[in-house]
Amino acid sequence: MRLIIQPDYNQMSDWAARYVADAIRKAAPTADKPFVLGLPTGSSPLGMYGRLIELHRQGAVSFRHVVTFNMDEYVGIPKEHPQSYHTFMWSNFFSHIDIPAGQVHILNGNASSPEAECAAYEEAIRAAGGIDLFLGGIGPDGHIAFNEPGSSLASRTRIKTLTTDTVIANARFFDNNTELVPRTALTVGVGTVLDARRVLILVNGHSKARALREAVEGPVSQMWTITALQMHPQGIIVADEAACDELRLGTFKYFKDIERSNLSPDSFKGI
Ligand code: GLP
Repeated sequence: MRLIIQPDYNQMSDWAARYVADAIRKAAPTADKPFVLGLPTGSSPLGMYGRLIELHRQGAVSFRHVVTFNMDEYVGIPKEHPQSYHTFMWSNFFSHIDIPAGQVHILNGNASSPEAECAAYEEAIRAAGGIDLFLGGIGPDGHIAFNEPGSSLASRTRIKTLTTDTVIANARFFDNNTELVPRTALTVGVGTVLDARRVLILVNGHSKARALREAVEGPVSQMWTITALQMHPQGIIVADEAACDELRLGTFKYFKDIERSNLSPDSFKGI
């Protein structure tokens, strides 16, 4: 696993955006061979989306031949709800780039059969050739997408009940009223994320420090689903320093040291 430590949230977001733009450019996608991106919601990726929009406006990256699959969606709130992940993605990212609407995939949280919806989503990912790069964030309890503690590390797309911790954490988006937070969501599984060719996870802020410690120093465990990233051959975490508050000093220095050479100014040529 690579752990890229950046001084603050803005630099973390900038690094991640340039990594994504560089991966798309190097793949030189076409209509017949698009680049397939897995995407998260939440506050962690907002800065990265903002930088990607800027890079797009500067002509450094195009999403014309990019196909996307979002990680998750709440069950039981309308697609147009201000806190639905559909709304989040269109207002914070898709409306500002050149991606054709038909290339965007987001789970339908109002599907009459959630099981059929989830099976069809897995099939659509397979039909698109699999995910080239899955981006993600984590919850303070180390969950990835909505794979709450105790989720199988081999899980696939399915319906999940949110934990009390997650409901409380997400209440900030629902007038601080836990009663308004949906109790279930459709989510890709840990196995779905691990199938991607590359995985890049954003971790920022002191509230994620314990989860980052488990992700990097802890054993692989279903109780911290992010730890499954240790099993991925191309797993990267990009973090800000605040998220490193619980890492051992030796671990912090080790990753700073081995990443120094990778962070030269021409790491992402032209971006
Ligand atoms: C939700 C999402 C996760 C996200 C997490 C953290 O639970 N399902 O995908 O990583 O929130 O969100 P934030 O980035 O706002 O801390």
